Amino acid sequence: HVREDPITLSEVASIAKTRIRKEVWDYYECGADTQTALHENEAAFKALKILPRVMRDVSNVNTSTSFFGRKCAVPFGLAPSAMQKLAGGDGEMDVARAAAKLGVNLTLSSQSTTSLEDVISCKKDSSSSLDPAFWMQLYLTKDPEKSIPLIKRAEASGYEALVLTVDTPVLGNRLNERKTPLVLPAGLHLANIELATRSPQTERKPTFNRRLMDARTLHDAEAILSAAGGSTHSNSLTWTTTIPFLKKAAPGMKIILKGIMTPEDAVLAVKHGVDAIVVSNHGGRQLDETCATIEALPGIHAVLATGSSEPGRKNRIPVIFDGGVRTGADVFKALALGADFVLVGRPVLWGLGYKGEEGVEVVINILERELSRTMALAGVARIEEIGKEYIGVKNAGGF
Ligand code: FNR
Repeated sequence: HVREDPITLSEVASIAKTRIRKEVWDYYECGADTQTALHENEAAFKALKILPRVMRDVSNVNTSTSFFGRKCAVPFGLAPSAMQKLAGGDGEMDVARAAAKLGVNLTLSSQSTTSLEDVISCKKDSSSSLDPAFWMQLYLTKDPEKSIPLIKRAEASGYEALVLTVDTPVLGNRLNERKTPLVLPAGLHLANIELATRSPQTERKPTFNRRLMDARTLHDAEAILSAAGGSTHSNSLTWTTTIPFLKKAAPGMKIILKGIMTPEDAVLAVKHGVDAIVVSNHGGRQLDETCATIEALPGIHAVLATGSSEPGRKNRIPVIFDGGVRTGADVFKALALGADFVLVGRPVLWGLGYKGEEGVEVVINILERELSRTMALAGVARIEEIGKEYIGVKNAGGF
């Protein structure tokens, strides 16, 4: 029996599982191939142990931090995930309302079932005085020019950053999806992809092109994607062409690369003027036989660390981290090993499936409370104080 009032993310997941259709649950949960990276992401966190300090004044633990010069209530944000309406309720709108209310950073997937304009309008409607940054995730189309309308719309509507996902030149081999192809129920569609194919003249009177209409009657996500421009996932990104292209297309936006797993690529990101990177293996959904993201993080931090103790500037460019974060202690561990900011993916979907907007708030609140308690028990009062001296590894002296 699962209590109705979940107090951990795994309890949120248990309830959500009973409320989300099986093929959708499988789509959300699965990794690629043998599911190795998916499992390792979580297991590697558990192999890390926190070394607590005592007799420290932790009467005022503060979980807030800043990122790109903006105050964040918590050092974690909501990772982009496709088609959130499949979890039920208002999907992306529920996630955005929870984020706006609690002051939490959010990245919207370009494959969302709600238009990017509607999502960011939640901030205006929110009574909260907090103004978290919203970022826009992007898969660059094979012909990059076709991505420009989407980029311009994101910039015009107030998204602070473009998060280019670089780990998806081809889709990972997701066995569940191949066995039970995901079908979008009638009424749901990939709002941004379809809008992206509108010409400026028809902007006010949406007329979808014929192939899209055909694909929509199939309600098949893959068909919609392929109809929307051949390949929505470019397999020919390069450092020398893609980064200048993005900077030119969106001069007012920060450029973040999501899916960096090696120190070499982290150094290249700095060299090419990228504003931040996300250490990520796409939640184990792309290259399966790669290492856990928390194992990749220290090496990347080592090549980017400045040695500066200035808050929020531990790395030459900010390092964001995702993959397998399921507790506040996991957030603590990622920050300790060099992340400036952390994203959570699947737990957001669990929150949505559990109770829509309120469920996403529950997920954020659980993580915030767990992080705050972990900090107090480890003897740190401020996010900037969390460093690698707080981490040990089972059966080894330390890092
Ligand atoms: C994702 N992720 C993802 N990433 C991205 O850049 N664009 C996308 O559209 C999606 N879609 C997506 C759908 C689903 C169902 C999942 C689970 C994940 C990856 C996501 O942003 C993030 O990298 C991982 O989910 C982080 O791992 P955890 O927190 O889920 O373990």
